[in-house]
Amino acid sequence: MTKCVLVTNRLFEEVLTPLLNRFEVEVFQQDEPMPRELFKQKAEDKTGLIAMSVDSVDREIFDIAKSLKVVSTVSVGVDHIDIEAATKRGIMITNTPGVLTETTADLAFTLIMAVARRIGEAERYIRSGKWKIPIYRRLLGTDVHGKTLGIIGFGRIGRAVAKRAGGFRMKIVYYDFVKADRAEESDLNASFMPLDELLATADFVSLHVPLDKSTEKFIDQRKLALMKHSTFLINTSRGKIVDERALIRALKDKKITGAALDVFEREPQLPHELIEMENVVLTPHIGSASYETRKKMAELAVENCTLALEGKKPPHLLNPEVLK
Ligand code: DGY
Repeated sequence: MTKCVLVTNRLFEEVLTPLLNRFEVEVFQQDEPMPRELFKQKAEDKTGLIAMSVDSVDREIFDIAKSLKVVSTVSVGVDHIDIEAATKRGIMITNTPGVLTETTADLAFTLIMAVARRIGEAERYIRSGKWKIPIYRRLLGTDVHGKTLGIIGFGRIGRAVAKRAGGFRMKIVYYDFVKADRAEESDLNASFMPLDELLATADFVSLHVPLDKSTEKFIDQRKLALMKHSTFLINTSRGKIVDERALIRALKDKKITGAALDVFEREPQLPHELIEMENVVLTPHIGSASYETRKKMAELAVENCTLALEGKKPPHLLNPEVLK
């Protein structure tokens, strides 16, 4: 039987060669998400699926795509895939960890700097032509160097952010369900802190936990209320980790000073309040969006898919039990 692969977005053409040499490949040749109805229709006869984090790969898709063997997502996050349902049907799920760590940490640190130094506001100000005379007390921000950074989720990306913070002589505290070992802590000059204490201590709180049932609305009204009035919240993980309404209230009531957000509850829709607030920096889910990294992610996704369809174990298989 011919193996057919659906690629739900326009990846880099040169990256697709291993697939094109082996299988029938259908690519959705657009830079926007594949419409759901088309996705369902095209998935029907496919053995492999290379999907993006915006594609919901759920039971409905598995019911339609009866010959599906592998879903290879071009993302590290897998909250858009029903892994349990896939596993029951023997479908392999793979992702692309590692290659995007440094790039996403770069963006998290960019956002820390941007929100502290009011870069968005400063840009809007200068472009609006309002800058007529220098004023000593205009656009005063907050120093980043020497401040306390609270990292929630001390995995690969959280640790890469800690490395950057070291260069700014920041005090680094972290919270995770699992404590890092002593050597790692001392290497990064980071110390574990219980969650509530971290929230009450940090000047910048940066989120790096994956989205699952246990982390949905993890940053809620209670946790926001624990933060200092001077605190900034940075989110480059997933929007649903923060209760967006509670965040908007906390920002409006000046319970915290600002936020820098790359991810949102209902992307690409944003609450108008966030768009209107000057003390919020917004970017459109571009954590891993450098040319080099997006290419590496695509290569890894293609490798995962190719190996799975050749009956071999892909390097980033998330549900190895399907091979038993
Ligand atoms: C990821 O890899 O999970 C990034 O957020 C891209 O969606």
